[in-house]
Formats: sequence, structure tokens, C-alpha cells
Amino acid sequence: MSLRNFISRLTGRPAALQPSSQPNNRSVHMSKVLVLYYSTYGHIETMAYAVAEGAKAAGAHVDVKRIPETVPEDIARANHFKLDQLAPVATVDELAEYDAIIIGGGTRFGRISSQVASFLDQAGGLWMKGALNGKVGAAFTSTATQHGGQETTLFSVITNLLHFGMVVVGLPYSFQGQMTLGEVTGGAPYGATTIAGGDGSRQPSENELAGARHQGEVVARTAQKLFG
Ligand SMILES: Cc1cc2nc3c(=O)[nH]c(=O)nc-3n(C[C@H](O)[C@H](O)[C@H](O)COP(=O)(O)O)c2cc1C
Repeated sequence: MSLRNFISRLTGRPAALQPSSQPNNRSVHMSKVLVLYYSTYGHIETMAYAVAEGAKAAGAHVDVKRIPETVPEDIARANHFKLDQLAPVATVDELAEYDAIIIGGGTRFGRISSQVASFLDQAGGLWMKGALNGKVGAAFTSTATQHGGQETTLFSVITNLLHFGMVVVGLPYSFQGQMTLGEVTGGAPYGATTIAGGDGSRQPSENELAGARHQGEVVARTAQKLFG
């Protein structure tokens, strides 16, 4: 481990922000971005890959991983959960390996699902060590209805990110698609969103996917500025 990284660990400040005696100390570092999602019916899964696409386009190394399912398989099957999701299942410890973590999950009664909450509740050890301090964090979500709790769900994730000491990135108005009034659309300054419909039949629209890509890109660029 380099001295700068060691100091970074001790202080919780990113290595790139540490004072250095070397005049040209900017090593080339491809920021590592994790898109971490939980999706019951596939809408958030689709959004997750759009977020990843945006982060990749900005030059980051990107992994897409799933939060483990907690519903027993027979019940999940009987309730038509989308069980063919290819993303590997994440472990809590590996969160510390990333410069940025973008968390997606559908709303449950206006807040994040128990699967996502349970996963984050297991990050107490990382919190104790300050292992996520200064990293970039972001959230995206999905609801059945237009006003079914997108913003409150995003904030239920953002609250966790702030407790972890993360630098939160939303979906800035540089994504003008969130101003759209001519069609039903998700997208909020707090994060990318989609609307699944009461029966789940609506899929993320082009505008919503563009919002997700934009958020991925902004997160990756922010991580690059902090850690590159
Ligand atoms: C227990 C439960 C609670 C839900 N609560 C809400 C809600 O408060 N508002 C809403 O619009 N949708 C609600 N939904 C719908 C889900 O948010 C929707 O199915 C999800 O966003 C779709 O994303 P996914 O396909 O990635 O699972 C709820 C679904 C379940 C199963």
C-alpha cells in the first residue's frame, strides 16, 4: 500500500486529496463504480444496466451486482418474481473496493425494500471503519404509480449514504429530460426513476433510461474528479 493510500485510510480523505510533495502526482486511475440493485420484476434491473452504460461511457470500470433475495424461492416463483437475473450477487464487504456505489431498488410503501435495507444494515462494520467515507453514492428507484413515493424512496437510500459518509450525487438538471411534461415520465433531481404501472406492464421509457445513463455518467465523472 502506498503512503498516500495509507494516509487516505487513516484520515478518510481520498488519496487524490492528500497533500503531496510531488509536483506531478496524478496517476491514471480508472474509477471503480458499482451499480448495486434489487429488482423483483425487472424494471430496476433494466435501469441498472442503463446506469452502468452511462458510467462506462464516462470511462469508469463498472460492475453491476444484485442485492441478495430474501424471499424463499417457492414464494418468489409463485409470485412471478424475475428469477433469471444474470448479475452476480454482491457481498457487503466488497462495497469498500469501489470509488462509487449507485444503489437501485423499487419502492415499498414509499421507502426502500427490506432486501436493500437488510443488505445495508449489514454494513455496520464498514461504517465503524469509515470504509465508505468520501466515496461517491447515488440512488435510483421505481414505483408503480407516478406519485407512489419516488422521492421518499430515493431519500430512504440517500439517508444511508450520508451516514456512510458518502458524497451524494443526484440527477442534476443537466438531464433536461426530467423537465418533460408531454409524456408520463420518471426522473427527479434526487435520482433516476421509472414508473412500472400498477400491474408492472410499463417498462422504462427512453427518457427514463436516458436519465439513468446520465446519472451513471455524472457519478463516474465525480468519482474520477475525486479519485482520478
Ligand atoms: C409490498 C409492496 C409495496 C409497494 N409499495 C409501493 C408504493 O408505495 N408505491 C408505488 O408506487 N409502488 C409500490 N409498489 C410497487 C413496486 O414499487 C414496483 O413493483 C417496483 O417498483 C417495480 O420494480 P421492479 O420490477 O424492479 O421490482 C409496491 C410493491 C410491493 C410488492
